[in-house]
Amino acid sequence: MADRVRMGIVGAGSISIRGICPHLQMEDVQDRVVMTAVCDPVEGRAKAAAERFGIPAGGAFETIEELLDSGLVDAVTIASPIGVHYEQGKLAIEKGVHVHFNKSMTTTVGEADDLIARAAKKGVKLVSSPGEMLRPRHQAIRELVQSGALGTLTWAVTGSAFGRYHEDESVRHGDDVLSNINPAWYFRKPGGGPLYDMTVYGLHAMTGILGPAKRVTAFSGVRLHEREFNGQMLPVDMDDNTVMLLDFGNSFFAFVYGVAAGGLPNTWRPMIMGTKGVITNGEFNGAAIDYPGRDLDDTGKIGINTSLPHVVGAHREMDEAHVYEDVMQLVDLIRDGTPTVATAEHARHVIEIFDAAYRSADTGQAQNLRTTF
Ligand SMILES: NC(=O)c1ccc[n+]([C@@H]2O[C@H](COP(=O)([O-])OP(=O)(O)OC[C@H]3O[C@@H](n4cnc5c(N)ncnc54)[C@H](O)[C@@H]3O)[C@@H](O)[C@H]2O)c1
Repeated sequence: MADRVRMGIVGAGSISIRGICPHLQMEDVQDRVVMTAVCDPVEGRAKAAAERFGIPAGGAFETIEELLDSGLVDAVTIASPIGVHYEQGKLAIEKGVHVHFNKSMTTTVGEADDLIARAAKKGVKLVSSPGEMLRPRHQAIRELVQSGALGTLTWAVTGSAFGRYHEDESVRHGDDVLSNINPAWYFRKPGGGPLYDMTVYGLHAMTGILGPAKRVTAFSGVRLHEREFNGQMLPVDMDDNTVMLLDFGNSFFAFVYGVAAGGLPNTWRPMIMGTKGVITNGEFNGAAIDYPGRDLDDTGKIGINTSLPHVVGAHREMDEAHVYEDVMQLVDLIRDGTPTVATAEHARHVIEIFDAAYRSADTGQAQNLRTTF
């Protein structure tokens, strides 16, 4: 392995243009990682991204197949629509290329099983966003819960609402190829909907803190059948309104939602209740929970992304630093084998919960969960 990981960017959309590429272009990471290739099927987008972010022109492609065949990369970050992550992950693994998956890694637990098995066979390393348990705050919350400070745990809540977040992103309203990125896929099958894209954060934190869940039951459907974007109507055929109940065992339950609009306050990250109180929004019974880096998070421009381990110097001023953190987890894993908690196995458990929730909504039956991490 070369000293510097040669990184390919798969998909030059919002997260790549606003987050991944600006961070990986910074001087301070060049000793560890260098962007050598980018691909995107929209004509001219990969070339434009390569020009903007200093990727040599020979590294711009329209397909992942060309990118992988070029031999220019040791690793890729898959930043395409979620519905193609599985097939693209398989192609990369087959070529012996290490993979960072932007959330969510796949849409079904079977696909996640397959990727994990293939990667093990090929000796390929996988890191899967979101690395919620890399956060010192979440590590402190887990210790607090395990210490018994909350007494007997009774129930927990997390979830997110789509709102108009994706329609309103800054890179979707311009008139050049890097600023007119259409968010239509967020509302289509496979891979659309608020669970795989947004609820995934809170559920990674919830299961990271509380451990794997055992059973799920849910209602789910399409509530808004179309959405306005830049004067056109985008069709919605993926469920945008899902509420579920999780069973963690011994009658300890959680309520988890991913809805079209209207989230509960402070439940983007989990609220956890017990006989001795409540943890919500970084507080235990109203007092701030202490942890290394809390002062940085409290005063930093990017909130709780500030205390992540690779987020130093100018990265503390930049958007989407948590995604940069997850990419750097893969870089360290490749370069010196540093283990990470942002594992494909944790991602698979969360994906199994979503997959099982949709099956429960379809069948009217609670679904047992089989994976752990
Ligand atoms: N937008 C955000 O705020 C955000 C934040 C963190 C993570 N993410 C994750 O990043 C990933 C991408 O999201 P996004 O918001 O950047 O989407 P996007 O729609 O803005 O961009 C996706 C890009 O992928 C390209 N693409 C489509 N099919 C492709 C293919 N087969 N191969 C390569 N590229 C392809 C599209 O042309 C587009 O340029 C998703 O997994 C998402 O959950 C997004």
